Amino acid sequence: MTASIPANSDESVTGPAAGDARKRMPWSIGEIDFAAIDVARVRPDRELFYLLVSASFVESGSDTYAGNLATYYAANPEASGWLAEHWEAEELQHGLALRRYVEHVWPEFDWERGYARFFEEYRHTCSVDNFEPSEALEMAARCVVETGTAALYRSLEQASDEPVLRDLTRRIANDEVRHYKHFYRYFNTFNGVERLGRWRVLGALVRRLLEIKNEDAEIALRNVLRIERGTEDIPQKDVRRLNSRVSAVIRRNLPIEMTVKMLLRPLDLHAGVERAIRKPLVALVSRAVLH
Ligand SMILES: [Fe+2]
Ligand SMILES: [Fe+2]
Repeated sequence: MTASIPANSDESVTGPAAGDARKRMPWSIGEIDFAAIDVARVRPDRELFYLLVSASFVESGSDTYAGNLATYYAANPEASGWLAEHWEAEELQHGLALRRYVEHVWPEFDWERGYARFFEEYRHTCSVDNFEPSEALEMAARCVVETGTAALYRSLEQASDEPVLRDLTRRIANDEVRHYKHFYRYFNTFNGVERLGRWRVLGALVRRLLEIKNEDAEIALRNVLRIERGTEDIPQKDVRRLNSRVSAVIRRNLPIEMTVKMLLRPLDLHAGVERAIRKPLVALVSRAVLH
C-alpha cells in the first residue's frame, strides 16, 4: 500500500510517445500464469468470487463506454485516439484476464451466460446522456472512475494471498493509475479553456462517486446471483445485502490515502482546505468505492 499516487514507468502520460510504444500494451494476458493458480487457497473465498466476477463483467463491458466517450471527445483527436486505441483495449484485457481467472478457479460458474444477462442491463447505463455536460467535467468524472478501479484492485491485491491473483490485480491497478493520469491531464487541458470553478468540479466528482456506488456493482451482483440461483427473480434486498458484504472486504483493504489524494487532485485545493475535508471524504470513499 502506498501513501501517494504511485509513479509509473509509462512516460506516455506526459506526452506523445514515439510510434510503436504507443500501440503496445503495458502487459499481455499471456504473461499471467493461470496454470500456477493456487486454487485451494482462493476457491473457498466466496466474497472474492463475487468481487472478481463483478469486476470482470464491468471491465468486459468497457467497449460500449469507450466508444461513446471517443465520440464525445471526437473534436480532440489526441483524447479520442487514446481512448479508442489504448484505453479501451486495456480495459477489455482487464475483463478477459479476470474472466480467465474466474473460470480457472470456479469453472462451474457460467460466465458467458452471466455476462450476456449483465450486459443486457448494463448497456443502458453507458449512454451519452449520463455524461457530464462539459468536456472538462466528464474528464473529472472519469478521474473518479479510475480512482475507484485503482483503489479496488489495490484492495483486492491486499485481500488475497494467492500469488497469481496478487500479480494480476497489481498489474491492473497500475493500469488504472496510469489511466487516471491520462484523464487528469485531459481534464487540465479542457479546464484551461472552460475555467470551471471548484464547486462545479466538486459536483461532477460527487455525482460520479454516487453513480459508481448505485449502478455498476448492483447490476453485476444481481446477475451473478441470477446465474447462481438459476432464476431471473432476485429480490433487491438480496443484492443490497450481498453488495454490503463484499464492499466490506474492499473497505477493509482500501488504500485510503491514495484514494483521497487522487479524488481531490482535480480540485487543486490549498493544503489547509484539503486537510479540513479529508476525514468526511474518507468516510464517503469507504462506502462508495466498488468498481
Ligand atoms: Fe480496468
Ligand atoms: Fe481504467
